[in-house]
Amino acid sequence: MKTIDYTKHALLQTKITLLRDKKTPYTLFARTMNEISTIMCALISAELAVQKTTVLTPLMKAAGTKLKRPIVLVPILRAGLGLLEGFRQLIPEASVGHVGVERDHVSLRPRFYYYKTPALKDAEVWVLDPMLATGGSLDFTLGKLKEHKPAMIRAISVLAAPEGLRHVEKAHSDVQIYAAAIDNKLNNKGYILPGLGDAGDRYFNS
Ligand code: PRP
Ligand code: URA
Repeated sequence: MKTIDYTKHALLQTKITLLRDKKTPYTLFARTMNEISTIMCALISAELAVQKTTVLTPLMKAAGTKLKRPIVLVPILRAGLGLLEGFRQLIPEASVGHVGVERDHVSLRPRFYYYKTPALKDAEVWVLDPMLATGGSLDFTLGKLKEHKPAMIRAISVLAAPEGLRHVEKAHSDVQIYAAAIDNKLNNKGYILPGLGDAGDRYFNS
């Protein structure tokens, strides 16, 4: 599936500019990441499959709408936690699973250290990670999640590098990827350029 990007979304782009600015203090960085996640959730949720239901208003029976499948939000630790709040705000009924993967600084390969999710069979899984650089962490996480046979998976990133997008689009053509911005390239240490630096460190002030 071709990546859906929001590179023309005016408000998202102003907020991404704030994230990029090295002078943005971590309190504002964290708040802005939360705001971005809320906006992205509103955009992506327009595509959710729904089914008909009925509801009793104080006056009469009315036609209504409900989500077809349960949603499981899966942030990739740590930086993915920065996207969780906004998504939970709009979809409070979603369950949450966690996958711990960190990138080795030298080899840039993902190192897996934690997995705990609710049942994924027939659910719709939304993987949250603000940074898609080489794509190694996301590729690995998608492989793990697919072992549990979800109905479908969406992968939500804020900044994506073209190299990483190509990698994950090729390895997981059944996964719908979203990116709020697509940057120029990776540097020789695997950082996204122009990027925003280390998303986890900036979100958690660590
Ligand atoms: C960052 C980011 C992604 C990964 C992206 O996590 O949150 O998970 O790097 O890089 P990749 O596409 O090249 O795999 P990091 O490894 O820094 O861990 P952290 O979130 O705990 O800081
Ligand atoms: N992870 C980050 O936090 N930033 C990058 O630029 C690449 C990977």
